[in-house]
Amino acid sequence: MPIQFVKEKNIFVLHTAQTTYAFGIDNLGLLRHLYWGKRIDHIADFEIPDLAEISSNDPVLDLTLEEFPVFGGMRYKETCLKACFSDGTRDLEYKYVKYALKDNSLQVILRDTFYGLEISLDYTIHETQDLIERKATVTNHMDTDVAIEAIYSGQLHIPHQNLTLTATHGHWLAEFQEFKQKLGMGKTVLENRRGISTHNHNPFFILDNGATETLGDVYYGALKWSGNFKAVIEPRPYGTTLIQMGVNPHDCQLTLKAGDSFTTPEMIFGYTVGGFGTMSRNLHDYARKNLLQGADRPVLYNSWEATFFDVKSEEQIKLAKKASEMGVELFVIDDGWFGNRNSDADGLGDWYVNPEKFPDGLNPLIREVKSLGMKFGIWIEPEMVNPPTELMKKNPNWIYHSKNRQPDTSRNQMVLNLTLPEVKNFIFNMIDDLLANHDIDYIKWDANRPISQIGMTKEAGIRHVEAVYEIVQQIKQKYPQLLIEACASGGGRVDYGSLSYFDDFWTSDNTDPFDRLTIHKTYSYIYPIKAMRAWVTDHHYRPHLPLSFKFHSAMMGSLGMGCNILNFSEEEITESKQFIEAYKKIRPIIQNGDFYRLEHNSTNAYHLFEYTYGEEALLFAFLPQSHIYRASVNIKLQGLDENVDYSFSIPVARSANEIYEGLKSGNLTTKTKSGAYLMNHGIDLKLEGDYASTIIHFKKGE
Ligand code: DGJ
Repeated sequence: MPIQFVKEKNIFVLHTAQTTYAFGIDNLGLLRHLYWGKRIDHIADFEIPDLAEISSNDPVLDLTLEEFPVFGGMRYKETCLKACFSDGTRDLEYKYVKYALKDNSLQVILRDTFYGLEISLDYTIHETQDLIERKATVTNHMDTDVAIEAIYSGQLHIPHQNLTLTATHGHWLAEFQEFKQKLGMGKTVLENRRGISTHNHNPFFILDNGATETLGDVYYGALKWSGNFKAVIEPRPYGTTLIQMGVNPHDCQLTLKAGDSFTTPEMIFGYTVGGFGTMSRNLHDYARKNLLQGADRPVLYNSWEATFFDVKSEEQIKLAKKASEMGVELFVIDDGWFGNRNSDADGLGDWYVNPEKFPDGLNPLIREVKSLGMKFGIWIEPEMVNPPTELMKKNPNWIYHSKNRQPDTSRNQMVLNLTLPEVKNFIFNMIDDLLANHDIDYIKWDANRPISQIGMTKEAGIRHVEAVYEIVQQIKQKYPQLLIEACASGGGRVDYGSLSYFDDFWTSDNTDPFDRLTIHKTYSYIYPIKAMRAWVTDHHYRPHLPLSFKFHSAMMGSLGMGCNILNFSEEEITESKQFIEAYKKIRPIIQNGDFYRLEHNSTNAYHLFEYTYGEEALLFAFLPQSHIYRASVNIKLQGLDENVDYSFSIPVARSANEIYEGLKSGNLTTKTKSGAYLMNHGIDLKLEGDYASTIIHFKKGE
């Protein structure tokens, strides 16, 4: 039984394979947090400590660890719920009521001691991945309204201080820039106020106690939410570290009418002693098994960076023919196919096929794509509208805007008010029509600006995101085979909220293959490789990089191409074809395998990653700049079977002298080594040339 209730002590114990999480009900009815850490099977040992204040200035409610503290009484700490009743009372006071336990899930019900406000806390265990999911639901059982001023998904407590936080910062073209900072005393806040997800920060936390990739305590979690989020991390004066995550209460208030409920997004969290690597593999495994079921993601070609807005039926057909020659499986037409869309200034909202660009509609292109044996995908940006469009003229009140203020435009567009049922219907019907009239397998759903001017709609921060989820869900119910990519000016919608509805992420508009390595790395801390779209393109600020480096970088995720392949030479076409063929062979390892960020103590600036899956493993090695005098790098692989032999081919390293004398490079030598040797002694690899890269394929027993 992964979840147990110790009746005599009123204690809940939640076990995953390697961890235990415990909380209990004390004699005041408070839900007291007791433990989160390494697994403890002697559950009878758990007890609820007596409440004791340190002084009149350190009141018990403030220093006691609670599962879901509410605003009220002498609590000055972060609280998960803040409400205002119709009579003006703003202090909440809860008591435990009951619980329900079923297989891997637990529900605990709390209720206000006077008012008809109920809180349900729901926990789900993912045993093998050492993860717990939790969310909270608040229900108004009164005849009068209650205003919810803040509601978080939950509060967690780590029994340590002096932790290091790993998180991301960044902006458009620079998503997923990793930073690490030692927590001082005081609060660290990570948040988003943009209405939809942001490039600036991502809704996850990683806290470690001196961990490495392979070893050490790591506490981590992520919020399943694609909008305003807030994470507060605070080493408390009383020795522990508090983490609270949820929807950002910034500029947001919910009114619960009689009988209404609100459920927070889920937060998923875990603990490991196995370092950052185990953390990532647990999350990846969870995502693949629970959210990303279905076939391996196809190799796509997207024509955006080849043509930008200048799409034409004939040219797209030519691109499709070239793409299929190279082995592409999915052809995606991006922005520019609809309305009066020749730049970003017009068209959004008028979702008819542009008759000048496609005189006979989209179907001739789609038929051609299908006859070439590829799937067909299309770009939309359904939440937005450009001012000159018919949609805007007919429905000037469909946008978020404030009275007596000019509507904010950004990228020449405004955001549709998805809290209006007619807007939601319009978007659903638009996508439904598009899919009903065209043989479409893939949608790239974009959103190129944040929300502003929500005016009186103080619930919009929540309702907009819920509306997006609802539309995507309804569309997928009707078209179950359809894949939908979440994009928002690149990686502006990468989060577990999106992943619960969408199938792929566009990770960044920065397609520079070297920059992408850092983005891939930080992304991989939390998010699964299978959902990470990466393209080979012409548009980056190091245009003369070898095609091999571009392909190897993009092959680390779900491979795509975005080059203007009409300008490709015969050699480039042949080379691309070979890379795509090679990718298809190793795709199951990349998309379904265990992922490792390899550590190495060489001064060489190698970037090393490994995937293992069944009988095989892959090593990706990148070297941005090589020097003649540099020694090889010793690479210790991970996750192999110690007592099994693996065979592999590795580039032969030339000595500095041989390079000086111009001895031929590029030869491979085939070797067989045991897993134990590969993981402990390791292999020595020396790449040569700037932007050198290679993939080494290890196979058991050949
Ligand atoms: C932003 C996306 O990230 C790009 O890939 C492209 O789809 C453009 N929008 C189109 O406007």
